Formats: sequence, structure tokens, C-alpha cells
Amino acid sequence: MTAKIISGREVAEHILENELSKKVEELKGKNIIPNLVVILVGEMKASASYVAQKEKFAAKAGIKSEVRRFNSEISENEILSEIDKINDDSLIHGVIVQLPLPDHISVAKVLNRIHPSKDVDGFTPNNVGKLFLGEDTLVSCTPKGIMQMLRISGTDLNGKNVTVIGRSNIVGKPVSILCQSENATVTMCHSRTKDLNHKLSDADVIIVAVGVPKFISGDQIPEGAVVIDVGIHNIDGKLCGDVDFDSAKEKASAITPVPGGVGPMTVCALIENTIIAAERINSAWEDSNFWPLASEANALSNWATGAKKDSN
Ligand code: GUN
Repeated sequence: MTAKIISGREVAEHILENELSKKVEELKGKNIIPNLVVILVGEMKASASYVAQKEKFAAKAGIKSEVRRFNSEISENEILSEIDKINDDSLIHGVIVQLPLPDHISVAKVLNRIHPSKDVDGFTPNNVGKLFLGEDTLVSCTPKGIMQMLRISGTDLNGKNVTVIGRSNIVGKPVSILCQSENATVTMCHSRTKDLNHKLSDADVIIVAVGVPKFISGDQIPEGAVVIDVGIHNIDGKLCGDVDFDSAKEKASAITPVPGGVGPMTVCALIENTIIAAERINSAWEDSNFWPLASEANALSNWATGAKKDSN
């Protein structure tokens, strides 16, 4: 069997043309342009490249984006006050802090400071908690992108066995919850799982987010499984994923490539989340039934998005 390639680039373009562009036009009709701020700390090349992709896709979708760059010596308090300013700015709908951060800055503290209504990465405890409870929320981007890819490529998860390899907060854990909510039976594995081959043997879908180059190869994949590869590594100038693509494509029925698979879907989901955040902030304003003086705008926006209540 040679696998069908699930192109994240094509699925992202499809979502952009068929869903996102329309939503952006509707918002523009109400004089609202979704606005994303990305906080980028330090000079890591990979982070700079991911952020550039986010800016490019935002421009294609017709939304605003701004990158606020800081050198790696910035203090934790300075980042926290930057987030406070963004939380209070009613013209900004979404904010992300590109990870990783330098060691002297607590990721948990920084993420906790982002107001949940503007947390378009879906990383705050509030949004993660809602996801786990099955409530409507801003869903973190890579898991959301994976679910969209599965849906658009025609993989129905109802009653299927999904094996997730990797237990990170930003991919493994949330994607397992999303798959369960689509009625899949999920097996969670990780780098220390004993007898991984056995856990993979009845998988219909395998999602690999373990962060080890070519961790999974074709001989571990049951014939006909769908394989989603979240990893991206640069080995001697060549990109590869957590899956050995060449051997895996001979066993899988469908597989995501690296690059061009999950990566573009993560970016697409981020822009979609920014649009959703703008829609929700706007409808909270509309529900308020009056237009405040400019000087009251921030206070009303905080009230409308629940900032006061949630931060007490
Ligand atoms: N670093 C690697 N992936 C991500 C992501 O999805 N969001 C953020 N903020 N940082 C990342």
C-alpha cells in the first residue's frame, strides 16, 4: 500500500478560502479587523521562522498581526507588564507568546497572565480546563489543526482506535481529549511506554508528537492506519518528522508529510482562533446595547470579555 499524502498546506488553503475569508469579510463589514499580537523573545531561528509563517498567513487572511520583539535579557516582570497592556487594549483580539522562552522566565506565569478571551494559543489553564470539560473554548492550535485535517481528509474517528505518542500539554494531552470527544478509543503512549509495538498493533489512527526524529517506522504501523506526524527536526540540513516517512508511507493508508503537514495547520488554527476571539469580543460589545465614550472603551471591553470577573 502506498499512502495518500494529507497535505496540511492544501487543507489550510481550503479552510482559508472557504471559511476564514468569509468570516473576516463579515467582521470588516462591522469595522472590525481581527488583530493578533505575537510576543517573540530572543533570537532562536526556528521561532523566528514559525512567527514569520504566522504573519504571512495572517496577511493572506486579511487580518492584522504585529510581532513585538524583545531581547533574551528581558525580565519576567517586563513580559508580564507587556501582557497586561495587551489584555487592556480593546483593539487587540489575540495574543501569543512564542515558546520556548529563556530559562529565567516562567512559562506557566507568563501563560497564566494572558486573558483567556485573548488566549488564541489555547494554552491558559482556563481554556485547557474548558477543553477537558468539553466546553466551548479557544482550542490549542496544533490539536485543532490535526482534527481539521482528519475531518477534511475524510477520517471518521467514531469508534476507531487512536494511539497518541507524546504527552505534552500542547499536543498529546489535548489531542487525546479531542479524539475522545469524537468517540474514538484513545491509547496514550510516550517515550517510555513499554511494548509500544503492541499498543500500536490495533491502531486505526496514530498521532506522533514525541519530539524524537524518526521515532516510528513503517514496521510498527498496522497496514492501512492513518499517520499524523507532528514532529519537525533538522538533521544535517534536511527536515524530517517523528515518523520515518519513507517506510511509513508503504504501510499507512494516509500520512502527513514533514514539512507541509501539521505545521501549516497549526498556523491556520491560530488565525482562526484570532477571528473567533474577535467575533466573541464583538458580540459581547453588541450585547451591551450602547457605545461607550472612548475613555470607557477598555473598561467596557474588560467587562464584556469577563476580565474583571476572572481576574478577581
Ligand atoms: N512553539 C512551538 N509551537 C508553538 C505554538 O504552537 N505556540 C507557541 N506560542 N509557541 C510555540
